Amino acid sequence: MKVGLKTQILPAGGHAVAEAARCLTEGGLVAFPTETVYGLGADATQAPAIARLYEAKGRPSFNPLIAHVADLAAARKIARFDATAIQLAEAFWPGPLTLVLPKTDNCPVAELATAGLDTVAIRVPAHGIARDILRAFGGAVVAPSANISGHVSPTTAAHVASDLTGRVDLILDGGPVEVGVESTIVACFDVPMLLRPGGLPREAIERVLGHALQRLPEDAVNDDAQPLAPGMLASHYAPRTPVRLNATSVEPDEALLAFGAAGIGGASAAKAVMNLSTAGDLSEAAANLFGYLRALDARLARTIAVMPVPHHGLGEAINDRLRRAAIGR
Ligand code: TXA
Ligand code: MG
Repeated sequence: MKVGLKTQILPAGGHAVAEAARCLTEGGLVAFPTETVYGLGADATQAPAIARLYEAKGRPSFNPLIAHVADLAAARKIARFDATAIQLAEAFWPGPLTLVLPKTDNCPVAELATAGLDTVAIRVPAHGIARDILRAFGGAVVAPSANISGHVSPTTAAHVASDLTGRVDLILDGGPVEVGVESTIVACFDVPMLLRPGGLPREAIERVLGHALQRLPEDAVNDDAQPLAPGMLASHYAPRTPVRLNATSVEPDEALLAFGAAGIGGASAAKAVMNLSTAGDLSEAAANLFGYLRALDARLARTIAVMPVPHHGLGEAINDRLRRAAIGR
């Protein structure tokens, strides 16, 4: 690994967007904010840049990347959209929805970024800075979350810097992100299937479709032959401290990740307490989730005890990430 790169951190604004576009064109690695989490971008057409990206994250190259584009017209040069895909793109782009679609015949995205699959994941982010970079750059940018592989996704530039300083060329600081969990991933083949719950609630998608989304079969995650969702490795999003779910009380040597107004036994004696949302607001909880996991992880508690979070709306994505965090690494 070529660590010891000089990583430049720029506040978004001024010449930062032009600098980001120039860096991408030259094959550089640029971390930038999206509405979901910070992404680590590379030019989708430059295999050497993409190889550096996998190396910088320590990510296995069989786990493909999401191509980010400025609009649906750009997306259609990369992927084949059926009627359902068009319907979802028109309803939710720009926004926290990724579609997995068959590649076009002349798909410009490098094979390395799609792990040799004949499908490609694609999204149009809603964040102003991400959109400005995509417009200035003019092509597709592949961008996984800007964290070391397996670590908690970054929701601030400081999180990115703590994982990737010395490993990337440029970090654009656009402040904390709005959504806080990664995009929802839907595969559109014969029937639309939910591959990853995320920042766009399943219910919103089902309302547009007029029917339920198919679920990912449990074994699809571990089937190495041709995994449907290659990145949904069971352990992921993990802090170093073990995570204990559905806590109804907490011990003095534990840290507590709370939710809602009701307290639980032992909270006043716990090593640390952070509340995802005292008002019980799932959007607020999603926005706080990864930052609070990082903060509690730093307290070196025996475990992070987590109170139950309701499973509807963004709660599905929050519980998915918590479940993966609890499996550990
Ligand atoms: O919100 C997000 O989606 C963020 C921001 C930066 O856009 N990106 C993100 O990327 O979460 P990443 O690499 O951390 O997660 C992408 C997921 C992985 O689980 C990967 O396996 C899956 O998308 N994926 C990519 N291409 C795929 C494909 N062709 N078929 C199935 N899954 C795919
Ligand atoms: Mg990730």
